[in-house]
Amino acid sequence: MVQPIETVLSARGLIKTFGHVEALRGADFDVRPGEVVALLGDNGAGKSTLVKTLAGVHRPDGGTIYVDGTPVEFGDTRDARAAGIEVVYQDLALAPHLNPSENVYLGREIFRPGILGKLGVLDKSAMAKEAQRGFAQLGVKIRDHRAPVRSMSGGQQQGVAVCRAAMWAKKILFMDEPTAALGVVQTKEVLDLVRRVRDTGVAVVYICHNIPEVMEIADSIEVLYLGKRIASLKAPDTSMAEIVSAMTGAYEGGQK
Ligand SMILES: Nc1ncnc2c1ncn2[C@@H]1O[C@H](COP(=O)(O)OP(=O)(O)OP(=O)(O)O)[C@@H](O)[C@H]1O
Ligand SMILES: [Mg+2]
Repeated sequence: MVQPIETVLSARGLIKTFGHVEALRGADFDVRPGEVVALLGDNGAGKSTLVKTLAGVHRPDGGTIYVDGTPVEFGDTRDARAAGIEVVYQDLALAPHLNPSENVYLGREIFRPGILGKLGVLDKSAMAKEAQRGFAQLGVKIRDHRAPVRSMSGGQQQGVAVCRAAMWAKKILFMDEPTAALGVVQTKEVLDLVRRVRDTGVAVVYICHNIPEVMEIADSIEVLYLGKRIASLKAPDTSMAEIVSAMTGAYEGGQK
């Protein structure tokens, strides 16, 4: 098997089975530095399973994951996070009763040092300041930093979830259908946010069913079909028809 070159994250021959279901049947995947990669495929093609496997949620039954061309094994999500990989899941996984800054630091709290080196108290002001700097840098406007996220609209919550992940992602940010529940204006805001994250040097992998949206945002397009990569396309050189034919399994173009 050819070792991937010049990629920040790759997979070769990934296999993942759940009982009798083969969700991934030898899937390949590549992300190059600074790219927005769209991950496409029909319902059940294995997209979410691939993301979870690359993020340390699932352990693959076969195949290899590479970070910067080096084989890695993620025992759990902490390993993937330590490698610079973060995920925004469809359900966002925000804590509704906490405010935006508290959500950013949930599980990664900053403590003020205590007396004689003991673990001190939570440094709320440092966390709020850092989080607010992150929101501002990524252009996410928070009207009231003290309000719990449950009082915010769906689009605003999406902004908080993306920022939280983007602030911790050093290499790659996965987003599983980030605009599925959003209106036109909010979708545009998420797309702008994706571009700003990419401009910070973090590659973004974007799962989406909306092909015009993919054509607008993606640099490259990876298409899964029945648990395998069936096409790897460059966005400027492809067409809606080519993408659709890949998604339906009719593709004969091979991988670019
Ligand atoms: N935890 C699980 N337990 C059992 N089967 C699973 C599990 N996760 C996924 N599967 C199965 O694996 C296959 C691939 O599912 P996956 O969620 O990865 O698809 P997907 O491409 O994300 O689809 P969608 O577009 O509907 O989100 C499906 O047949 C699904 O039922
Ligand atoms: Mg899915």
